[in-house]
Amino acid sequence: MRDIYCGQITKDFIGKKLSLCGWIHRRRDHGGIIFIDLRDYTGIVQLVFNPDQRNNFEIADHCRNEFVLRVVGEVSSRSSDTINKNMKTGEIEVCVEEIEVLSKSETPAFPLDDFQDVGEEARLKNRILDLRRPEVNERLISRSKITSFIRSFLEEDGFNEFETPILTKATPEGARDYVVPSRLNNGEFYALPQSPQLFKQMLMIGGLEKYYQIARCFRDEDLRADRQPEFTQIDIEASFVNEEAILDLTTRLVSDLFKEFANCSLQEFETLTYENAIRKFGCDKPDLRIPLFLEDIKSLVKDQEFKVFSDPANDENSRVVALRIPNGAKFTRAKIDEYTNFVAKLGAKGLAYIKINTLDDMQSPILKFIEGECTSAIVKQVNATEGDLIFFGAGTSDVVNLSMSSLIKKIAEDHNLYVKDWAPVWIVDFPMFERNSEGNLTSLHHPFTLPKSKIEDFINSPESSLAHAYDLVLNGYEIGGGSLRVNEINIQREIFNILGISEDEAEEKFGFFLRSLAIGAPPHGGIALGLDRIVMLLTNTSNIRDVIAFPKTQSAACILTDAPSNISNEQMLELGIKILDEDK
Ligand code: AMO
Ligand code: AMP
Repeated sequence: MRDIYCGQITKDFIGKKLSLCGWIHRRRDHGGIIFIDLRDYTGIVQLVFNPDQRNNFEIADHCRNEFVLRVVGEVSSRSSDTINKNMKTGEIEVCVEEIEVLSKSETPAFPLDDFQDVGEEARLKNRILDLRRPEVNERLISRSKITSFIRSFLEEDGFNEFETPILTKATPEGARDYVVPSRLNNGEFYALPQSPQLFKQMLMIGGLEKYYQIARCFRDEDLRADRQPEFTQIDIEASFVNEEAILDLTTRLVSDLFKEFANCSLQEFETLTYENAIRKFGCDKPDLRIPLFLEDIKSLVKDQEFKVFSDPANDENSRVVALRIPNGAKFTRAKIDEYTNFVAKLGAKGLAYIKINTLDDMQSPILKFIEGECTSAIVKQVNATEGDLIFFGAGTSDVVNLSMSSLIKKIAEDHNLYVKDWAPVWIVDFPMFERNSEGNLTSLHHPFTLPKSKIEDFINSPESSLAHAYDLVLNGYEIGGGSLRVNEINIQREIFNILGISEDEAEEKFGFFLRSLAIGAPPHGGIALGLDRIVMLLTNTSNIRDVIAFPKTQSAACILTDAPSNISNEQMLELGIKILDEDK
């Protein structure tokens, strides 16, 4: 239908007669001449309608924004006073000789030519219109190019893409499952995959050696700006590999992506152990663009009278940390109160501080409770100087880590403390297990992760066992995670045992997998990268919904289609399902 796309017409086409298709972005009537900006997915071009072409002029006169047109016209140069330097095609225009309205449009829910943020809800409700906005359109096209680049990269490296089932059995990744009732087996359910974990491992045992998949995953969990209930992983697994091989492959892939799509060479990927990450930053997703660190000061304050510090300093499950903010002494009282409220929402009981106006003039509500020598030792340990501020976090390790790591990120954002654009870091040496709020051991990654220690040590002290597991963190976002896997059935059984999964339960949930481990499983390992998060970072947004064509809201709903929704009584009957009476 068309000879060329709107955004591709340059001065080289002057004098040529071309056929174009697209949407009316804007229509202006300039006393006798009508201008229409025609838009397709490559850009916008200006069409001109002269009244001497009466038929065309009349049709153009009745056109409105978002009508769909096909036109034929001659490309001409604009006069020097009408050249638009902000437009790719701003030096030319197309004088229309034929016009055909392919489709009309109602008045759009919001204007695209003069777009003002109408709020995300209105945009998602009218997502199809929203998709036409160049900003949205371009992000999704970038996503497609990024995916295609990843496929080529991995295929050149010898990886093959294999699909794994969507209607399947639960895969434990720490979230709730989305389940699908079975019509043929009433009372039974499929689970949608939280990840293709067990299938990719079985592909390795099946001898396929190098697997990847751009895989859709489903997790019923609390949503945040970087989480969706269905999202996409770049899922990778390989046989006969060590940790280094997977880290190296991923580092190359991510570096190449950033070179290609963000035009930057990522500096060296740092490596931090999980223990050091928690100690220095209070979290396993540190944003290393921020030069702020936690210092443990337990030993300095354990004998002080100030119970807020000395109690946790004498408790092994607690921390007392100091956080130096260079030039922070200028923070106002109101700002400090704001930060105190911020950490309080995360469970902290307070946010002690010392302002160092000069080394002889410190200002703080806590100075009267701690000895001068102790204060000096703290100032020395954190290397504070004139003009700095020191914040303190004291309490159970969980609360201190969460509140102080979040405070670091908030202060950096408020005061733009970033010292670089990109800061990739591998977090390694994760513990195999952690205790949940009920005191039970759970896997930090998933139960198929290979322990680093010998089996006897691992059985004797599971809590101190480290795992061959690694996460890739970029600017505070976890963009990937993986591990080497258990390939011996005995170790796998031991892990289930430590997790309190009985033999019967293991058989029921993972019998198929245990049997596959029994027929000669190669050493294998892999990783899954969060495609949505990577695209988000590459396209410069902090909202995952911006990089998904049809995203879900914070309450996991699709407001475009109104999903989830009721099903008919007949369908319920067929599926053998009854809804519990809410009143009961
Ligand atoms: P993990 O659970 O760490 O590992 O997931 C891998 C990566 O997927 C991304 N991700 C998400 N992105 C958007 N929304 C979500 N709800 C969401 N959840 C996770 C993150 C994360 O780093 N099977 C293992 C991988 C392996 O061991 O090979 C797994 O799924 O970027
Ligand atoms: P209080 O004795 O509770 O009035 O606290 C004295 C100072 O210590 C105040 O500045 C509080 O904000 C601060 N503070 C109280 N509890 C904590 C805590 N758990 N961690 C850090 N600072 C605290």
